[in-house]
Amino acid sequence: MPVTIILGAQWGDEAKGKIADLLSGDAAVVARFNGGDNAGHTVINSYGEFKLRLLPNGFASPETRCVIGPGVAINLQTLADEIAMLGERGLPIRERLWVSPRCHVVMPYHPLLEAIYEDAKGAAKTGTTRRGMGPVYADKVSYNGIRLADLMDRNVLAEKLRVQLAVKNSILEAFGTPALDLHVVLDEIQDKFNQIREVVREPFGMLQDTLMASKQVVLEGAQAALLDTDWGTYPYSTASTTLAGGITAGLGIAPRWIERVIGVSKAYQTRVGSGPFPTELTGGPGEVMLKRGQEYGTVTGRPRRCGWLDLDLLRFTAQLNGFTELALTKLDVLDSLEELQIGVGYRHPELGEAVVHYWQGDARWLERCEPVYEAKSGWLQSTAEARRFDELPASAQAYIRRVEAFVGTPISMVSVGPERSEILPVPVL
Ligand code: GDP
Ligand code: IMO
Ligand code: MG
Repeated sequence: MPVTIILGAQWGDEAKGKIADLLSGDAAVVARFNGGDNAGHTVINSYGEFKLRLLPNGFASPETRCVIGPGVAINLQTLADEIAMLGERGLPIRERLWVSPRCHVVMPYHPLLEAIYEDAKGAAKTGTTRRGMGPVYADKVSYNGIRLADLMDRNVLAEKLRVQLAVKNSILEAFGTPALDLHVVLDEIQDKFNQIREVVREPFGMLQDTLMASKQVVLEGAQAALLDTDWGTYPYSTASTTLAGGITAGLGIAPRWIERVIGVSKAYQTRVGSGPFPTELTGGPGEVMLKRGQEYGTVTGRPRRCGWLDLDLLRFTAQLNGFTELALTKLDVLDSLEELQIGVGYRHPELGEAVVHYWQGDARWLERCEPVYEAKSGWLQSTAEARRFDELPASAQAYIRRVEAFVGTPISMVSVGPERSEILPVPVL
């Protein structure tokens, strides 16, 4: 079965981009199936450093086809900019890029509506990336979306925009945001669409042929399980499904093709934006993680909140997605810490001494939970040079094996630096 899925196992930014880059060398197709340009995936390979928000990996291998499935929301400007950027860096992608005409398009009113909601919520805001994701997916499921296919015919687009602006402008104006002009928006959208028109073609048939020929397909998830619309810390979550099961709706690939489901987790925990985070640290080791890990959002530049690795969450996301393996990243960030803690469950004030789990409650419930920790010794030496598991300090090996045992999923690789080469295979126990 030729499909490998790479998924975020925490709250995002686990280094999915790096793992996808590593695995995409041999792939016939690399595809995105969810999210939009709220994602920011860093890749450092022989061509340099890339921070991609919409395009999947695979761009660095000239024979690989890159696909964006219907589950992805398209910001036309971001797509045009990324295609142009790769071209300028000697990696032309237009002829091997397939963007489904079923993709919904982020319209100029989506980020504006999102800002109105976020501002109205005040302290309870989600802390979104403000790329219009909530409103674009809300329009999709309430039959008010505009898809790439609609952009092919000016009359169709004009009529859809007329209806949407009639509703959206009244909301914008009610909250003090100037209304959008139909003709200005129409021209702007058509202009941007013309820059990417040739890559809009349905990949379904090509994907099915690739699967039937048993060629390798790599799927690059965006966001992460704890941001999933249904299973994440709603409403501190994102707007699309982030789970392995999302590939059928988001791309048109049936579950029976899946061979590997790789959950990517940092060796500690981060989140950007609001919402519960039981093992969060303010200061001390959290500061070390922020600085050494360079934990600043790829899209917004916001500092990421940092904390101890939460194994109750990781076991949950492994069960939810059926991870066949884990990639543990950024181990090197913990190098200077003398003692480490790992979260192994929670206590809730109303449930006494019982150790409880994430899935038992909602975000408000989780806010009140106190983590139960297990202490582990640090290793106080650099791991960045290690290229084999047995070159890692004994306490680092013990940390990795503990994670594996608790989660019940083998760790197949460990990453000790941002470069492609800074990754080591972990022998099966
Ligand atoms: P993604 O959204 O899951 O693809 O992850 P991001 O690209 O948003 O964030 C991961 C960050 O960690 C990037 O800046 C990477 O260059 C960096 N990174 C990846 N792996 C490692 C690692 O093993 N060690 C360190 N120190 N940095 C890493
Ligand atoms: P990658 O793919 C980390 C977070 C936002 C916010 C919440 C909702 O790089 O891992 P949204 O803009 O999606 O409506 O914001 O989700 N978020 C991410 N956090 N990594 C991401 O993507 C994220 N995409 C969205 O910070 O808390
Ligand atoms: Mg990211």
